[in-house]
Amino acid sequence: MTPVAPDLTIRTAGDADWPAIGLIGATGFGIWRPEERVQVWRSMMPPDSAVVACDGDEVVGVALFMDLQLTVPGGAVLPMAGVSFVAVLPTHRRRGALTAMFTELHRRMGDYPVAGLEASEAEIYGRFGYGPATVWERQSVERERARFRPEVPDPGGVRVVRPAEHRAQLESIYERWRLHTPGGLHTPERLWDEILTDRPESRAGGSAFFCLLHPDGFVMYRVHTGERKDRAEVTKLAAVTPQAYAALWRALLGLDLVATIEIETHPGALLPYLLTDARLVRVTGVEDGLWLRMLDIPAVLQARTYGADLSVVLDISDGVLGGGGRFALQVRDGRARCEPTDAPADVHTDLSVLGSLYLGTHRASTFAAANRLRADPGVIRALDAAFVSDVPAQLGYGF
Ligand SMILES: CC(C)(COP(=O)(O)OP(=O)(O)OC[C@H]1O[C@@H](n2cnc3c(N)ncnc32)[C@H](O)[C@@H]1OP(=O)(O)O)[C@@H](O)C(=O)NCCC(=O)NCCS
Repeated sequence: MTPVAPDLTIRTAGDADWPAIGLIGATGFGIWRPEERVQVWRSMMPPDSAVVACDGDEVVGVALFMDLQLTVPGGAVLPMAGVSFVAVLPTHRRRGALTAMFTELHRRMGDYPVAGLEASEAEIYGRFGYGPATVWERQSVERERARFRPEVPDPGGVRVVRPAEHRAQLESIYERWRLHTPGGLHTPERLWDEILTDRPESRAGGSAFFCLLHPDGFVMYRVHTGERKDRAEVTKLAAVTPQAYAALWRALLGLDLVATIEIETHPGALLPYLLTDARLVRVTGVEDGLWLRMLDIPAVLQARTYGADLSVVLDISDGVLGGGGRFALQVRDGRARCEPTDAPADVHTDLSVLGSLYLGTHRASTFAAANRLRADPGVIRALDAAFVSDVPAQLGYGF
């Protein structure tokens, strides 16, 4: 493990540290975030939830968490410590600043049962017990040739609206969507304010938001012109019913002057199944989304519902931060009981793998084949059957 350089100290970030934190974040990510956006994130942080690493008086690293609410399979909602703004100045890399800040930050998470983050790079967070739990699949739809299959419903009901004028409907549909979707996150009012302010610097060269609204779903998108052909980039599609999903895609595919429509969705999304030519929906990228670390393993495992009965003892290792342990997990009729035990274990794996299984996106059998989970074949089959999720997991929003 990287030793912490003796000249680095870790302490709580105070108000006076925020200019330095802004500079470290901008340097780390190569983006100057608008001050208003930073203020929104700050409004979502509990007290003392930001730590800084200092070299003498100079602030050289930062890590913090926000108070988020995560939907899990079955619709329960868990308080989640949403880790964000993690960066160390290039002058102080690989001296243990991240490890020291993370050790302190996780000590401060108190009663949060679970922590989550999005990773800039895939090699950083596994050592801290985080595992990728949702997947973003980037799709590009060749709109001009796309036709719906005859049996696909054409329910209509979509209106073209200005999003800020329909905030109450957008909020209420999003709320239904996030409570139904594992990985969904509650959106606080200040974050809605920020989204609907639609700052030009957040548009990545695209237009202001366009919005398609249905009683059970909405789409927000931007159009990128000035390229060879226009391209629409969907920033949010929230559909609570398959009818709303089909109606919204019919409206999107009616954008005559747009050649391609791009969207980030979950693997197995419905659109290719609706079209006469499924190949017009090309997968152009796949990336991990939300990463999860269980802080209270029994509470988290008991919160979700399961697809099949299960009776196992899990032996969970957690190298750097020292969580993990041995737990008896019993599932009957979809509900789990989980408690610490000394009984011999049937399943040996590490906490990051358990995080990856939790929302049903990844399978135990895949980790077993990769030698990252050890259990008898019958137990692996039982884990696969139990940890499925009827609703595919999808991260509510980036944080
Ligand atoms: C990622 C970052 C915060 C790491 O900070 P750091 O202080 O250099 O990390 P540490 O010295 O504590 O390293 C801890 C361990 O993680 C490893 N590690 C750190 N960053 C890594 C990376 N980007 N890729 C692979 N391994 C990495 C180190 O090699 C070290 O491993 P070891 O214990 O086996 O020696 C820093 O490089 C950074 O600010 N990057 C740019 C911004 C960014 O990507 N932030 C993360 C946002 S999600």
